[in-house]
Amino acid sequence: MKQAAGEEEDHLAWCAGRIEELGGRLSVLNPLWYGGALAMGMAAGAMGDRWNLAFLAETERQVEEHLAGHLRQLSPADARTRAVVEQMRVEEGGHRSTAVALGAAELPWPLKSVMRLAANIMTTVAYRI
Ligand SMILES: [Fe+2]
Ligand SMILES: [Fe+2]
Repeated sequence: MKQAAGEEEDHLAWCAGRIEELGGRLSVLNPLWYGGALAMGMAAGAMGDRWNLAFLAETERQVEEHLAGHLRQLSPADARTRAVVEQMRVEEGGHRSTAVALGAAELPWPLKSVMRLAANIMTTVAYRI
């Protein structure tokens, strides 16, 4: 988990760096995304390892899908961005496998759907503001 946390810090830094190179900017709601993620992580943590890991595994699975979607949309010519997204996708898969190997439960599908809906709202909002 400590290794995964370090990799997530890398992901944030790689994305921020690449966005800057491309002349873009981070979402102004970034503090809200951090705060929300922390609150969700704390809530999941309070439910014990099996469910905490279940939440982690499902989050990583959905992130992998999300990143695979970016790879389908990104220009083949944009090798730098593709390399960042592909490396993150691989590492998220590793985080998911670790969570499963450590005994993650399987979340009920309604909860997975709620997570997907929340992620769609967050990514849509973050893209715009
Ligand atoms: Fe990540
Ligand atoms: Fe991850």
